[in-house]
Amino acid sequence: MNKWLLSIQTLQMIYKNSKYISNIFNNVSSKYDFFNNLFSLGLHFLWKRKLIGLLKPKNGEEWADLCCGTGDMSFLLNELVIPSGKVFGIDISEKLLKIAKRKSNKLGNRVINWEKKDIFDLDTKLKKYDGICMSYGLRNLRNVDDGIQKVFLLLKDNGRAGFLDFNHSKENSISSIFQKLYLRFIVVPISGLFNLKAEYSYIEKSIKDFPKGPQLIYIAKKIGFKKVKYITLFGDQMGILLLQK
Ligand SMILES: C[S@@+](CC[C@H](N)C(=O)[O-])C[C@H]1O[C@@H](n2cnc3c(N)ncnc32)[C@H](O)[C@@H]1O
Repeated sequence: MNKWLLSIQTLQMIYKNSKYISNIFNNVSSKYDFFNNLFSLGLHFLWKRKLIGLLKPKNGEEWADLCCGTGDMSFLLNELVIPSGKVFGIDISEKLLKIAKRKSNKLGNRVINWEKKDIFDLDTKLKKYDGICMSYGLRNLRNVDDGIQKVFLLLKDNGRAGFLDFNHSKENSISSIFQKLYLRFIVVPISGLFNLKAEYSYIEKSIKDFPKGPQLIYIAKKIGFKKVKYITLFGDQMGILLLQK
C-alpha cells in the first residue's frame, strides 16, 4: 500500500481512537453542561425533547441512551418508560458518567442503569433494546457506519432508533457560514478562556468528517433498516436521523 495512504489511515485511527475521544470528554467534563447550555442558549434541551417526542418511548419499554454523557436523554427517556420500563445510559467517559450518576442520585432515580463502556464492546447477543437514542454521539464515534450497524444489532425486531447531531447545511448558505463563524469566533475563543481550546476546536473537524443527511440515509438503508427518515431543525443547523429495524 502507498506509504502516504498508510500514514493518513494511521492518523485517522489515532484521531478517532476511543482513548483519544474519552480523554477529550474527560477533560471537558467539569464544564460540559455549562458550555452546552451557554453555546446553544439552552436550545439543546428543546432539540433533545424533539427527538424523544419523535421516538415515542412507552411505559414498559427498555431503552438505551448510547454515548449518554451527563445523561440528558436518559432522564427524558426515564420520564416516559416508568414505572415498568428501564433505561441504560452508556458512555466511555468516566468523568461525564460520574456527573450523570450524581444528577441521578439527586433525583432519587432507580430506573436508569449507568454503564461505562465503549459501545462497540456491547454484546449484541446478551441484550437487545426496544429503542436506542444517541444525541451528539454518532459524530464522535470512530466510525459512523459501524456505529449505525451496532445500533441495528442491539435493537429488537421493529425496534426504533434516533440520532440527533449537527447537520451540514448547503455549502456557502447563511446557515453553513453561521455555523463555521459561531464555532470559530464564539465557541473556540470562549472555551479557550477555560483552557479547553483544543477540545472545542475538535467540533469543527468532527462536523466536517460527519456524513451529510442523504449519506446517513444511504448507510442506514444499506445496513438493513426498513424505515429511514432524516429531518433538520433550527434553520438546518441540527439533524435527526430516525430509524426502524
Ligand atoms: C458530545 S458528547 C454527547 C453527550 C450527550 N449524549 C449529550 O447529548 O450531551 C459525545 C459522547 O460520546 C461518548 N462516546 C464517544 N465514543 C464513544 C464510544 N465508542 N462508546 C461510548 N461512548 C462514546 C463521549 O464520551 C461523549 O460523552
